[in-house]
Amino acid sequence: MASWISTGHLPTEAVVRQLVDEAHQRFGPVREGKVARYIPALASANPADFGIAVASTEGQLFEAGEALHPFSIQSISKPFLFALICQAIGERDARQKLGVNSTGLPFNSVQAVERAEDGLSNPMVNAGAIAATSLAPGDTVEAKWTFIQEGFSRFAGRPLELDEEVYASEVATNRRNLGIATLLEEQEGIWFDPEATTDLYTRQCALSVTTHDLALMAATLANGGRHPLSGEQVVAPPICQVVLAVMVTAGLYETSGDWMYDIGLPGKSGVSGGMITVAPGKGGLATYSPPLDGAGNSVRGQLTATFLSERLGLHLLASMPASPI
Ligand code: DON
Repeated sequence: MASWISTGHLPTEAVVRQLVDEAHQRFGPVREGKVARYIPALASANPADFGIAVASTEGQLFEAGEALHPFSIQSISKPFLFALICQAIGERDARQKLGVNSTGLPFNSVQAVERAEDGLSNPMVNAGAIAATSLAPGDTVEAKWTFIQEGFSRFAGRPLELDEEVYASEVATNRRNLGIATLLEEQEGIWFDPEATTDLYTRQCALSVTTHDLALMAATLANGGRHPLSGEQVVAPPICQVVLAVMVTAGLYETSGDWMYDIGLPGKSGVSGGMITVAPGKGGLATYSPPLDGAGNSVRGQLTATFLSERLGLHLLASMPASPI
């Protein structure tokens, strides 16, 4: 790895604060999108709730709206799980066992698993995340759960607890994920009992977080794996790099291309309405707003990320003449 890396920096505190407030005012009135219903406990979410949080790699926080409202992390767990698995087994083995290429299909596609002869997808979709869960260190469900829950808590900088209602609700309706895990077993693409693995994956999706937590978790990925407030080195810097790479190509599932085109940063969404965006070296953005588009991504979350990426100058592929003519 290079001995120095230039990623630039966020604008001044006053600018970031003003833009976070402006994004909240602009997109609060948006009414498009539908709250997820396929997990019954998510259907009762308030579509008007809207939280924004930006955490810089130096630990400054900028928040607007319901940034402290708790919700289940859902698919935003996937990049953090992948990071923990890479840390445990090495990023080379993790790539070989899970794959890192986008499927171009919805997050819970069974077809994507069947179509791939080698059983590989990527750790941002359900199949790859279930396979990743099976690789958590430990011989028992409880040992694996301790590894996952403690790892996530280190990313957040505080102990994270389960949302028992969401967990029970998804367990009762989880046939599709169980089907994916069973199919993976047939392809020798899962390394623990499929039923127990599906249960662990479901538990991890039901960990309760706030927008504030997610901004700090995203900022930890932006900060070479070191939590900006606790100072703990959660995973090594090269692991953040590969996690962010997979988020770029598959974080928004079949709309990852559109996301990269507009926002130009690694991102990850979840069906409860959360979303994270990572600006490497600079910080993390998190939003919470339950109404989703057809691909399962928060509508206000995408609008906020587009606005802040542009106004904070975060697009990774931005290209400007080096000097004025
Ligand atoms: O496995 C599921 O279907 C949920 N626990 C998580 C899906 C999810 O968040 C997809 N994201 N947009």
